[in-house]
Amino acid sequence: MQDYREFIDEVLVDAESIEKRVAELGAQISRDYAGEELLIVCMLRGGITFTADLTRFLTIPHTLDCMSLSSYGVGHYASSGNVRVNFDLMTNIEGRNVLLVEDIVDSGRTLAHVLQLLRTREPKSLKVCVLLDKKYRREVPVDVDYVGFDVPDKYVFGYGIDIDEHYRHLRFIASADLKKYKKEVDPSK
Ligand code: IMP
Ligand code: MG
Repeated sequence: MQDYREFIDEVLVDAESIEKRVAELGAQISRDYAGEELLIVCMLRGGITFTADLTRFLTIPHTLDCMSLSSYGVGHYASSGNVRVNFDLMTNIEGRNVLLVEDIVDSGRTLAHVLQLLRTREPKSLKVCVLLDKKYRREVPVDVDYVGFDVPDKYVFGYGIDIDEHYRHLRFIASADLKKYKKEVDPSK
């Protein structure tokens, strides 16, 4: 695995700013759903870190489920527009308050697809919380209820977000200079 310092462009959000914003979002969500029960749906795998931190700032009763969709083909760094459900929820969401927690909204295709799918299951309410919004890249309109940070049209990594499955563990969010990034070649393939 290449050292990220060889291809980092800039740190977009440092660890302290992430923690502060996640705490604010947790407080806001807790106020908005006061007196209600909430089902948090973590969008795997990019949403794991954000979801884990966010739920620790919730003061309302809530349960957790996960779902996995993919929109980027393997080895591609832009959304393919093809959205596939890798695995689905275990919870029946009919009549439940559902909050989807996702790492990034980019073209909007992934969220539009999952929202359309989940609406057919008749939840009581369905809202979206994203850590990062690449506003200017939107191709499909989606209503996002809670946003951590707006980010520029750059490839980002860290705090749960990967490049070829690596770098998710970093505590900050950075943009990558993909020209300097060397993809590892797996000799078994
Ligand atoms: P969309 O369907 O174009 O909105 O793509 C959203 C999904 O693409 C997110 O859930 C991310 O998994 C992925 N994605 C978008 N931008 C980036 C990025 O800069 N780095 C890593 N993954 C990204
Ligand atoms: Mg994702």
